[in-house]
Amino acid sequence: MYRSHTCGELRMEHAGQPVTLAGWVQTVRKFGSITFIDLRDRYGITQLLLGESLNALLDQQPLGREFVLQVKGTVTERTNKNPNIPTGDVEITVSEFTVLNGSKTPPFTIQDDTDGGDELRMKYRYLDLRRNLVKQNLTLRYRVNRSVRNFLDSRGFMDIETPYLIKSTPEGARDFVVPSRMNPNQFYALPQSPQTFKQLLMVSGYDRYYQIVKCFRDEDLRADRQPEFTQIDCEMSFVEQEDILNTFEEMTKHVFREIKGIEFNEPFPRMTWDDAMKFYGNDKPDIRFEMKLTDLGEAARGNGFKIFDEAELVVGINAAGCAEYTRKQLDELTEWVKRPQIGMSGLIYVKYNTDGSLKSSVDKFFNERGLQLFAEQCNANPGDLILILAGKEERTRKAMSELRLEMGERLGLRNNNEYKPLWVIDFPLFEYAEEENRWVARHHPFTAPKPEQLHLMDEPAKFGQIKANAYDIVLNGTEIGGGSIRIFQKDLQEKMFGALGMSKEEAQHKFGFLLGAFEYGAPPHGGIAFGFDRFCSLLGGSETIRDFIAFPKNNSGRDVMLDAPSEIDQVQLDELKLSLLK
Ligand code: AMO
Repeated sequence: MYRSHTCGELRMEHAGQPVTLAGWVQTVRKFGSITFIDLRDRYGITQLLLGESLNALLDQQPLGREFVLQVKGTVTERTNKNPNIPTGDVEITVSEFTVLNGSKTPPFTIQDDTDGGDELRMKYRYLDLRRNLVKQNLTLRYRVNRSVRNFLDSRGFMDIETPYLIKSTPEGARDFVVPSRMNPNQFYALPQSPQTFKQLLMVSGYDRYYQIVKCFRDEDLRADRQPEFTQIDCEMSFVEQEDILNTFEEMTKHVFREIKGIEFNEPFPRMTWDDAMKFYGNDKPDIRFEMKLTDLGEAARGNGFKIFDEAELVVGINAAGCAEYTRKQLDELTEWVKRPQIGMSGLIYVKYNTDGSLKSSVDKFFNERGLQLFAEQCNANPGDLILILAGKEERTRKAMSELRLEMGERLGLRNNNEYKPLWVIDFPLFEYAEEENRWVARHHPFTAPKPEQLHLMDEPAKFGQIKANAYDIVLNGTEIGGGSIRIFQKDLQEKMFGALGMSKEEAQHKFGFLLGAFEYGAPPHGGIAFGFDRFCSLLGGSETIRDFIAFPKNNSGRDVMLDAPSEIDQVQLDELKLSLLK
């Protein structure tokens, strides 16, 4: 036995007991003839006291940070107790120690406030994982995993694995592909999600499926995106949208209760996609704060101000209590909206001063009454600041949505310890892809249109009006899950592929297996997938999913520890019958 206890376990009640501990050296502090060592493992830190005789040994065999030690000794009450750690009342009076392994000086300090930069910590991820903060994140991830499994198991969901080497059917993101040695010139694709498999499982009668599963998407990365990420993937048969929303709202509440001790007593709010776009400018509204978008077109146009008159959209928000903003602050905000990522040419403001007077950057074109109208429409009170953007519809809406989030951030309205989930429902079925000059599926091509709009599937001119039985669950401005009721009739699925511009042959080639399955008694079904990494990171109070993944990729999709992706040997290329373009 290497150890009798862990480094997080010993308390006053163990005083006097002989123990054996093993762990890593966090710090070594020498005070004359005695030495204190903090010994660390996954469970905590215990202070070791090495007296005179061992101290002399240490002079011959110095210990460094991250050395692996085994010590034997007696649990003793500390004279200087440390109330900041659970083992802080005791220390081990060491009688014997063995260095199990040495360590080079680590490239960064293994502490909460480490001196290591991101890339360095990624390169030595096995050391970064020793840090308490990262350990807490992984522990949280494990607990969420357990909690989700317990819930789904209790509801009769069955965990079924689906394959990783599948057929390439790019739709949405790009596929990662894998060449096949046994089938030269042919490739597998890694699944972007197990979507079609879970539908096939429904056809097979496994009416409640789940899987906590890796998905792979070759897309541009952001703080909340990784090329390989994990979904809590679920599907149910003989259900309507309402059944799915209820089941997974319960699952979310269950996780919040178990992991955060937070009880949601009310049903999660539901917002239509149309309202989300109108009031928040995007389909994942952060409803921790109001500051809704207000269409100011009517009040703005016809006053001789060209920018308003020519704009497709004039939209405002009310930054409550910000009328005190100085010229400098307003100039800085204007620069902010002009950044290429936001892409606006300028920002207009109306200050509703505390004395009731109104002051604006467009005073020249608007009299007091004109400005008052803006204030009224934005529900502004004295002391508030109205910020207005005008321009092309889509860009302006998107920019205002970003400005709203930025103002929320600046005003401290986006508190990571406050959780505001909601469902966004009634998504459009299609979206027009200008560059491809065709309709694409807003969610995916297996999503069912609203039954009452089925007839519009025969009228391409009206595709834009069709809404889907599709839904997202949104938490604090992040989409943590999405799903839909599926098409389960072969004819309708074929019609859908046709609407997306696929010929019958192409549909057969790509999705023949699914269309075939639909000929053998497919039940009505639907499902959802949660972004597990995203859910964990939000529960952990962060928006960076990387911190909640044991071995993540960096922003260029590289594993800097493994140095992957990397070149492969000529022998491997030859076996795969591949040659590279230089
Ligand atoms: P969707 O594509 O919406 O749906 O994905 C479901 C959830 O997965 C998370 N997610 C990601 N997380 C990290 N990195 C990524 N690159 C990434 N991409 C997506 C999001 C998202 O809400 N098969 C359907 C689900 C269904 O219809 O049942 C699907 O994959 O949190």
